[in-house]
Amino acid sequence: MKKIGVLTSGGDAPGMNAAIRAAVRTAVTDGLEVVGIHRGYSGLLDEDFTDMDYSSVGGIMERGGTILRSSRCEEFRLEEGRAKAADILKKHGIGGLLVIGGEGSLSGAKLLMEEQGIPVVGLPGTIDNDIALTDMCIGVDTCLNTCVDTIQKLKDTASSHERAFVVEVMGRSSGYVALASGMAVGAEAIIIPEIPVNYEEIADKIWRERKRGKINCIIVVAEGASSAYTVARHVEHRIGYETRITILGHIQRGGSPTAFDRVLASRMGYASIKALEESEAGTMIALQGGRMVRVSLEKILSQKKTIDMELVEMAKILS
Ligand code: F6P
Repeated sequence: MKKIGVLTSGGDAPGMNAAIRAAVRTAVTDGLEVVGIHRGYSGLLDEDFTDMDYSSVGGIMERGGTILRSSRCEEFRLEEGRAKAADILKKHGIGGLLVIGGEGSLSGAKLLMEEQGIPVVGLPGTIDNDIALTDMCIGVDTCLNTCVDTIQKLKDTASSHERAFVVEVMGRSSGYVALASGMAVGAEAIIIPEIPVNYEEIADKIWRERKRGKINCIIVVAEGASSAYTVARHVEHRIGYETRITILGHIQRGGSPTAFDRVLASRMGYASIKALEESEAGTMIALQGGRMVRVSLEKILSQKKTIDMELVEMAKILS
């Protein structure tokens, strides 16, 4: 393998640039040529490539988003699309591919290897933290800090006006962001897709807190569990608590990565190139108990990341 390609795909995540930087610099140091592929799999199919070297990744670690840009590509979901991608990679002499993205992007990478024989290594880049067998994904920590910073501000105004706030955070099928950010701000209730929601129980709890003299109330809801509007309607209807809604939206995906994300992404970027060089393709670099490990994409994608029920119980007790 003399030349490798790097792409970012799916929803962007803070820290992707640090991963690109680490991968490019490690590869170049080891004598490999690196091609940056713009706009994920769409750019691959359009041959939207750029040569990368040590200096082309200077000054990017602190930047949010991804300098390679990203996309969700319908054509790549089809076998013909992946065959075309493989032909393009071969035509350009690209003998290995690093894919940084979430579950959908990694599934595409796995199929590209299985069907077309292209050596791939994946990195978990998604704020959702919904990829199995890795403790953390790139971008999660920054996202959580953004959520906490914003919800803390809402708490100020909630207290002044003695209101409840329902804050909707991202997470279509995973409640990790809601659970962790909710815990970090001491939210009175956290609603996640993994657990059926009981509006009566939530409203009653808030009512008890109110009677006990609490002057604010924060409910964090993951977008995949319910909507902020529905939750607010239930609370207002049942206990008449004046409620406001905030949907954090894509603010959660932006911003300069935290130190944790920069270090995690750098370690993963470095490890991904070593895995490609050592013919350990078909794997994803994961963080397990503080260490970087290579886990087969097959294993990762065949299971769903579960939520830690102890954290759920703890959040209930502590709020
Ligand atoms: O997969 C990450 C994620 O941020 C989800 O939590 C969210 O539902 C989705 O992406 C939104 O993606 P987009 O607006 O880019 O389609």
